[in-house]
Amino acid sequence: MTDLKMKYRLLVVDDEPYICSIVTEALTAVEKYEIISFTDPKKALTYLEENRVDLVLTDLIMGDFSGVSVLDMALRCHPDCIVMLMTAYPTVNNAISVLKKGAYDYLVKPFKLDTLKTAVKRGLEHQALARENLHLKEQVALYKLSEAMGVSSSIQSILDLAIDTARSVVGAKAVSVLVCKYDNDIPVPLLTRGKIHEGVVDDFLKGDHPLCRAAMNQGDAQIETEELVGERRAIRSLTVHPLTSSGRQLGLLNVVYEDPYHPLNKGKQQLLSIIASKIASAIETSRLQEHLQTSYVKAIQALANAIEARDPYTWGHTDRVTILAKLIASRMNWPEEKQDIIKMGCTLHDIGKIGIPDAILNKPDRLTPEERKQIEAHPILGARILESIDYLSPAIPFVLYHHEKYDGSGYPHGLAGEDIPLEGRLLAVVDTFDAIVSDRPYRQGASQETAIEELKRYKGKQFDPIIVDVFVESWQEGLLEQLGIYQHQTDAKSVIAE
Ligand SMILES: [Fe+2]
Repeated sequence: MTDLKMKYRLLVVDDEPYICSIVTEALTAVEKYEIISFTDPKKALTYLEENRVDLVLTDLIMGDFSGVSVLDMALRCHPDCIVMLMTAYPTVNNAISVLKKGAYDYLVKPFKLDTLKTAVKRGLEHQALARENLHLKEQVALYKLSEAMGVSSSIQSILDLAIDTARSVVGAKAVSVLVCKYDNDIPVPLLTRGKIHEGVVDDFLKGDHPLCRAAMNQGDAQIETEELVGERRAIRSLTVHPLTSSGRQLGLLNVVYEDPYHPLNKGKQQLLSIIASKIASAIETSRLQEHLQTSYVKAIQALANAIEARDPYTWGHTDRVTILAKLIASRMNWPEEKQDIIKMGCTLHDIGKIGIPDAILNKPDRLTPEERKQIEAHPILGARILESIDYLSPAIPFVLYHHEKYDGSGYPHGLAGEDIPLEGRLLAVVDTFDAIVSDRPYRQGASQETAIEELKRYKGKQFDPIIVDVFVESWQEGLLEQLGIYQHQTDAKSVIAE
């Protein structure tokens, strides 16, 4: 019972009319109790199925009928109901058995009316405390949601948590989040949980319901329906909470709540409004991050273009390397979050070359030891540029380790085998393949067959053997050709410098 104006509803079940009547009389004297009594336990079961009840006082033995059935039904329909058993034939076993089944107390007849009143009062106080704990649980759930929003950057995980909160704490049977592609646009479903296979409800969850349009215009909207589900009636509440931020409509939170006895109460509606506001903030933050990321990606692209523009022979190299790396990473089942970094890593892998003079970078002749040293500094230079930019720092393993060699003879750190981060090992393979087949100032690009032979020849020496195998298989299966990134090849001999 959450509404203060409502009375506690107590159900008294005893096949002796006399007991029913004195218990009823004694408890009716308490102003905040509403007493319903039955001498027929079967009628009590039906009543329990169809009505809210806060406390049940039932006889244990009623002819052939056991009060345990009343206890079971009460707790099935009303999990926080307080149930007390009464009996004139007490045994320890009986008492233990009903308490184990969830009864709150066990009264031995004859009992004093004051004892009864005290037991009822104590039971209801216990219930109030349990309900208060539930309220606290709601607060904790909201707190956790707020906390998650503070630390998680994934909109998906925040939405999942918000929907889980709506379902577990409010008891929503189905929830959908709908978002507007543009502000104030018609919202479309983004995420739905707990489908109900009924036309009207499914349409409602998809946003195709007059209530959704009403909510877009006027704010929170709710309707209650009462219908038969099988042989039982169910009160169903459909409720829509607009997702708004700074006066802009970002979407809707649609909730289906179903309870045989109660419509969605005000407290739960408020909780859903709070959840909706959290979801709106998460969507707004995610959009801002997306905008920021787009700006970063444009900045990265501009940097990559600046590097490529200095060397006309590497034009398109980073794009092709990115496409190849994505193919191989997906064939190797890299985790999604690792795959997401590939474009950034491949685009920026040679960012350190920005600090190398054109005369060295584009020198057609053999490099002097000093010039080679400068070239070989580019991974470290690149990593230094990126380490101060949080958003770009995930690209560092690509930048720093793409010239390491599997046998430990690479640079800048001379790492070997699996000590070289996977990103570096992958990029070494695809970067080399593309370099071999591309034209350079001092030679024409070689054929793909030649490049594949080179990868095989240096497998386990320069390159990770597993990555080479996956690359070669992908090439043999025609997957590289399907990418359409190489239009011409000519033949040439070995091009990897020993
Ligand atoms: Fe490089």
